[in-house]
Amino acid sequence: MAIEIIGTGRAVPPRKVSNSDLSARLDTSDEWIRSHTGIGNRHIADDGTATSDLALEAAKNALAMAAGFTGDAQNTADRDLAAAEAAKSIDMIILGTATADFIGTPSTACIVQHKLGAEKAGAMDITAGCTGFIYGLETAAGLLSLGRGRKRALVIGAEVLTRVLDWNDRGSCVLFGDGAGAVVAELTGAPAEGPQRRGLVRTILAADGSGGESLLFRRGGTRYPFKKGETIENGVCVEMNGQEVYNFAVKAVTDTAAALMQAESLTADDLAIIIPHQANARIVQAARRRLKIAEEKFYLNIEEYANTSAASIPIALDEMNRSGKLNRGDIIMTIGFGGGLTYGGNIIIW
Ligand code: UT7
Repeated sequence: MAIEIIGTGRAVPPRKVSNSDLSARLDTSDEWIRSHTGIGNRHIADDGTATSDLALEAAKNALAMAAGFTGDAQNTADRDLAAAEAAKSIDMIILGTATADFIGTPSTACIVQHKLGAEKAGAMDITAGCTGFIYGLETAAGLLSLGRGRKRALVIGAEVLTRVLDWNDRGSCVLFGDGAGAVVAELTGAPAEGPQRRGLVRTILAADGSGGESLLFRRGGTRYPFKKGETIENGVCVEMNGQEVYNFAVKAVTDTAAALMQAESLTADDLAIIIPHQANARIVQAARRRLKIAEEKFYLNIEEYANTSAASIPIALDEMNRSGKLNRGDIIMTIGFGGGLTYGGNIIIW
């Protein structure tokens, strides 16, 4: 029995903000941001939009595809009908995010479960920073493989990071954007082993908690709780030591790609595409030089969306899928890294 992806979806807010827009109010420039990161734009959610709203849209698109809906995926009544029907077949919803609607509870996954009408689904969030989708997919695969009657899982990566940025810190605020991506994973009759095998065939999940403070939401948890009546000046925005995360990320991408290829006896030529977490194009370039893998093997859309954390890999997967760039039998590698610190990757045979 294989774990196959039978539907993909994404949602990004319509409001697009370019580097030049930012440089009008911040001491930065299009030239600096592009040359240091590869970012040209980011999409920013309006005030009333929370992470679950983007997650819900991405989930509907993935569910509608899983139900065979082939029309325009944006907000059509037919899409919603197809998604609502497919939602009833979902056994588990797993949502990776660093920017949940609420701290602690309810989980963002539960909010999505309710709004989808996914009445038989369990739901939970995964806190693995930008690696959340990779952790989520493997967790879903594990649950589906247990033989306890679960057949379908919805795995989502969703973020509204721009809500938790210090917009005066040019070292971090230019890097991030909002969005969501989702997949429907199904336990199918296809073989999981041998030459005809399909689906999620290998995953690496790894962590280095010693680097936790290099990417941190300091306030609001039990370590440094908000106190009633307190005026909060610092610590509510994401704090990042860019250099430390950069060095960690280059090694994480290099090591994960090498380990996945070795474990599956693959060379770069066997891979149709590598989808790395879209944090900084320079991280990908540095890693690919070490790996000696051609630039064309890596899918990059960071120019359009910036870093959408847990959403970046499923957004990329959906873009590729909907534009017909994925063929049956293609070997796809995903690689993630981020807060925790966490890292890992998947090998998926499409
Ligand atoms: O999902 C995972 C999350 N995060 C990441 O993956 C981030 C990993 N880190 C990075 O991508 C890079 O470290 C950054 C893009 C954050 C920074 O790039 P860098 O090449 O390491 O720049 P830097 O921090 O060494 O700063 C170089 C200079 C500094 O000026 P001085 O001190 O040399 O005069 C910064 O103040 O660039 C300045 N700078 C900027 N200038 C214009 C930093 N940010 C900006 C900016 N615009 N936005």
